[in-house]
Amino acid sequence: MIIAIDGPAASGKTTVAALLADRLNYNMLDSGSMYRAVALLVIEGGASPDDELKAVEAAEKVAESMRFVSVGEGEFRLSIGGRDVTMDIRSQEVTEAVSPVSRLAGVRAIMAESQKRIAGADAVVEGRDIGTVVFPDAEEKFYLDAALAERAKRRYLEEMRKGTALTLEKVEADIRNRDKIDSSRELSPLARAQDAVYIDTTGKGIGEVVDEILGRIRGRR
Ligand code: CDP
Repeated sequence: MIIAIDGPAASGKTTVAALLADRLNYNMLDSGSMYRAVALLVIEGGASPDDELKAVEAAEKVAESMRFVSVGEGEFRLSIGGRDVTMDIRSQEVTEAVSPVSRLAGVRAIMAESQKRIAGADAVVEGRDIGTVVFPDAEEKFYLDAALAERAKRRYLEEMRKGTALTLEKVEADIRNRDKIDSSRELSPLARAQDAVYIDTTGKGIGEVVDEILGRIRGRR
């Protein structure tokens, strides 16, 4: 069974999806980390994030050589061509380049194709277009959302743990900007699939959201 989880930046998708995958013993696919890896390779190659030729080359490399490995307790590591990029894909430079890279048609086609191939039969897949474009027939679809101020606070706390120099205002502005580009792009924009269950996670803990999703899935089966 495919469980598709979409939603805007810092809505808790990755953490919720990883915990669900652990509980169900399913594969987990964080599609955002694939787009981040493409952005990382583009930047490191010195290209601009809207250089489609370079971005497509990077997407091919990611699709061919990525390994997504569970290290338990909802933690995953991503490697590209044997290099562990788990930390590098979370840098501020990548965060600022990822939405422009993700707008490119060539990049999206390669990513979607590779996501379908690697998910397998039973997977929790999360992103922006998973329930709408990549897995429109997913058996279970959820759309996680939360108020902008809360999403900014969550991401700011994560960044603080890594020792960030960013302010809460800057983190909120980055999220607002990414949401805007992701929702307004022509191809596969961030959108709630008509058949996705909407969950507002404002004020809810991660465990509560995971239990709510599991409860809904079990209730229907
Ligand atoms: O920061 P957060 O974890 O919320 O975002 P992410 O899931 O790591 O995704 C990073 C970026 O990748 C998004 O802002 C989108 O531009 C892009 N993305 C996409 O276009 N389609 C997806 N299915 C997943 C991510």
